[in-house]
Amino acid sequence: MKISVLGATGSMGGLIIKSALREGCKVSNKVSSKDKISDLFLNTDAIVDFSCPVATELMLNHVIKSKVLVPMVIGTTGLSGKCMNLMEHCSDFVQVFYSPNMSFMISLVNMMLYATSKILEGSYDVEIFEAHHRLKKDAPSGTAIMFGRTIAQARGDRFEDVARFTRYGVCPLRQDKEIGFSVQRCGSVAGKHEISFVGKYETLKIKHTAHSKEIFAKGAVKAAKWLVQQKPGFYTMNDFTRDSVIPMVRSLYKDLFSKV
Ligand SMILES: NC(=O)c1ccc[n+]([C@@H]2O[C@H](COP(=O)([O-])OP(=O)(O)OC[C@H]3O[C@@H](n4cnc5c(N)ncnc54)[C@H](OP(=O)(O)O)[C@@H]3O)[C@@H](O)[C@H]2O)c1
Repeated sequence: MKISVLGATGSMGGLIIKSALREGCKVSNKVSSKDKISDLFLNTDAIVDFSCPVATELMLNHVIKSKVLVPMVIGTTGLSGKCMNLMEHCSDFVQVFYSPNMSFMISLVNMMLYATSKILEGSYDVEIFEAHHRLKKDAPSGTAIMFGRTIAQARGDRFEDVARFTRYGVCPLRQDKEIGFSVQRCGSVAGKHEISFVGKYETLKIKHTAHSKEIFAKGAVKAAKWLVQQKPGFYTMNDFTRDSVIPMVRSLYKDLFSKV
């Protein structure tokens, strides 16, 4: 399988190239800010994009204009609503996979958050903390926002109404449904996320730590291999992991509760 990389000179791009070669793929095109976006589409089976929002938008606009049908795995974060709409538009005629976090464990955390939020029925205060390396440009991380959206969806709330991104000086008291975010940028932290459900008498924390960015590169290449076998459409990590995880979860809970 041949993979084109957008953001090839970046820290993630380098890891994607290594990971693709390790997985037996060929790297057909390496594109960065000095290249033409159209080079991405030459003689390739899939594109993996870890670049920046401007470059992702250029790529999507090129697809819409020229209708080139190459499946795209998009890992770039900090994308605007306009860019998300372009992605949806492209997915009408080509496979688009988007995830702000390509780690399988993060996908598992996302499922846990959905279940936990449904079961606790919004009676707990939710806070999301994330930490990343000093070079990360967007905040909070796309992953933290994805977690917030999952929790809001499970509680039947609109994310935009309940997300609280800043607290500084004298500020309004916490609202019941609020989802608070806090951010740290330092050193070379590959990625830490900690989600707290805080009640009056107890607290539940779900925490994930990425030890190396290689885990994201590995996940993106696996997603590309999976994506080329799918029909045109919009896919996320939930689609990628659903087939293996859902039957397992069903049988696990059946085992657990049959012993009660
Ligand atoms: N989804 C995930 O699992 C995950 C995990 C980690 C990171 N990320 C995200 O991946 C993205 C890249 O991270 P990084 O740490 O690798 O960043 P980085 O080191 O700053 O690399 C950015 C890359 O984008 C290229 N680029 C910038 N402007 C461009 C343009 N106009 N056209 C084409 N290419 C352009 C840069 O090329 P030049 O060298 O020519 O400037 C460089 O290759 C970020 O959004 C980050 O948050 C996602």
